[in-house]
Amino acid sequence: MLNELEHFPNHPLKTSTSSLGALTRFALRFALGVLAVRLRNDCYMTLKQPIKSPFSNCGKRLFAWMMATCSTAYEEAVAERKQALFSNLHGNVLEIGPGSGPNLSYYPHDIHWIGIEPNPFIHPYLQKEAERLGLSIDLRTGTAERLEAEDNSIDTIVSTLVLCSVPDLPRTLQEILRVLKPGGRFLFLEHVAAPQGTWLRKIQSGIRPIWQVIGDGCHPDRETGSALETAGFETVDYQQFRAPVPVVSPQIVGIATKKAAS
Ligand SMILES: C[S@@+](CC[C@H](N)C(=O)[O-])C[C@H]1O[C@@H](n2cnc3c(N)ncnc32)[C@H](O)[C@@H]1O
Repeated sequence: MLNELEHFPNHPLKTSTSSLGALTRFALRFALGVLAVRLRNDCYMTLKQPIKSPFSNCGKRLFAWMMATCSTAYEEAVAERKQALFSNLHGNVLEIGPGSGPNLSYYPHDIHWIGIEPNPFIHPYLQKEAERLGLSIDLRTGTAERLEAEDNSIDTIVSTLVLCSVPDLPRTLQEILRVLKPGGRFLFLEHVAAPQGTWLRKIQSGIRPIWQVIGDGCHPDRETGSALETAGFETVDYQQFRAPVPVVSPQIVGIATKKAAS
């Protein structure tokens, strides 16, 4: 039927078919947007009050499932960088926003791993991954802006693709500095804003309002590198690279170190 209509560009049936298609696409996008907004709100509501409505958790469940199933190609692309980044872990290691646990396979078994993850629906995926690897983990619900850890108590903090999503980046970095031991290290792999004036930067900024809704609060044009440099670490060393993903391809990987005790 559609093939026949291709010969008649102005056929009324063709116009109504394409309008129907556009309407369906709009309805699907709208539904996805609503789910994502619910997810974002619920993540923070959950920390203050018990979950009541099963519908209100649909978005969170969907995002948890997406995190657990859709990141294989990206993980393969960054595997070597992660191998190098996580090569020297010991003692207390705290990971913010660990998601479904793509970093767990890099960790030695003799560390004490604490995970702070606000989305409770991702916890079972992460626990399953830890069981598969035979790792014992200490997984908590919370946010990076208020870490449940003593001052100067953690040897290493890990963050991969999380600083783009935290609602308050400066506060998160101050919390990281507070709980790290003197001389402790913050290991990060994050996507960042493209350079000012580039087409990609314009796209990142233009798409931001929609991206934040569908991406759980993610800022595609966040200047995370500069925020790290001015946060108060003694040293911040990182490399920039391009990941094989659209929009958020500019990424940084590196280590920020807290000043050692004098
Ligand atoms: C894009 S996912 C990355 C997950 C995982 N780190 C990875 O590399 O695949 C972002 C993660 O940050 C978490 N997150 C969002 N806001 C957060 C906050 N304020 N504090 C801690 N984690 C947060 C999300 O729940 C999610 O697990």
